[in-house]
Amino acid sequence: MSAIKRLGVLTGGGDAPGLNAVIRAVVKAAAGHGVECLGVEDSFDGLLEADRCRVLTPRHVTGILRLGGTILGTLNHGNPYDSLVNTSDGPRPYGERVVEMFHRMKLDALVTIGGDGTLAIAHQFCQAGIPVVGVPKTIDNDIVGTTNCFGFDTAVAFATDAIDRLHTTAEAHHRIMIVEVMGRYAGWIALYAGVAGGADAILIPELPFDLAIVAERLRERDRLGAKFSIVVVAEGAYPQGGKISLIEDASDARVERLGGIGALVCAALGRLAGKEARSVVLGHLQRGGAPTSFDRLLATRFGGRAVELVMEGAFGTMVAFAPPDIVARRLDEVVGKTKTVPLDFDLMRTARALGITFGD
Ligand code: F6P
Repeated sequence: MSAIKRLGVLTGGGDAPGLNAVIRAVVKAAAGHGVECLGVEDSFDGLLEADRCRVLTPRHVTGILRLGGTILGTLNHGNPYDSLVNTSDGPRPYGERVVEMFHRMKLDALVTIGGDGTLAIAHQFCQAGIPVVGVPKTIDNDIVGTTNCFGFDTAVAFATDAIDRLHTTAEAHHRIMIVEVMGRYAGWIALYAGVAGGADAILIPELPFDLAIVAERLRERDRLGAKFSIVVVAEGAYPQGGKISLIEDASDARVERLGGIGALVCAALGRLAGKEARSVVLGHLQRGGAPTSFDRLLATRFGGRAVELVMEGAFGTMVAFAPPDIVARRLDEVVGKTKTVPLDFDLMRTARALGITFGD
């Protein structure tokens, strides 16, 4: 008989399409083993008080496979582990309180679905005695050890559709359209959506850019008779010798917020290329809506495998996609790192071969 009777599940960090698909898979697979699931609200905050957790049966997760967002709520704050928090038992250190409540609620394990920040906190809790299995999620696709995170494919599909729509107006007005996409310090969304959408220039954080090079490429298109251009800019891209554009600096409560590079590129590129330019920021639209079938499948496989790892007692691990398999990685081998686009990636080489410039 397994020692696992009660399993907690939570979602942390920015939402990503497919979170509900993981929750559904975890709840249904756990029920198949006779394990009760407790949904923890708003990331680890839900473990501060007993009334912020609720039992989830297969009936509660029926119909959520195709829903974006997360039925459990989430938080995208910094790491609260060492902070002091007000509880019904008075002020307590956050980390200690969560561990105490985890045991008071008679939980045997915790499936933590989150990005790099959430998985790093999960790793801390694992060291403090909470048996954790992690599930990697992020539209940024920047988690080490897994070729894909769910959410990424949906974000790329949305950004590609947006680029398609911008093509028609760019062509009609003979303009340069600049599209700023998310991705934090990695250029995965920009690269994939840029190539899929037929962009002429793609600017990514991995390669600081020179706009004079981009402008020359766009002028060349003009000379060849293509009087419009599409430039995809990752929010973390920055000019050679320059720095990342921020909307908000980091504080104790949260990490820095990236954004604004699209407008800067638009103004400079319009001037350099001698053409009208307009910029669009896709922002949180990339995180919304229903997950693609790829993300639903990946999320479902992650959820099913996470429950297998819980039942095997393989804690301190994270499920990961190593095509064609879903495997386990040790959390201490993946947290605190960022998976960026390798410069020798075949898609980078192919993009260049097709005439796409990275501005380098
Ligand atoms: O990590 C996902 C992500 O959407 C990033 O691409 C983006 O920089 C960030 O989250 C935005 O965070 P917030 O929703 O807190 O503004």
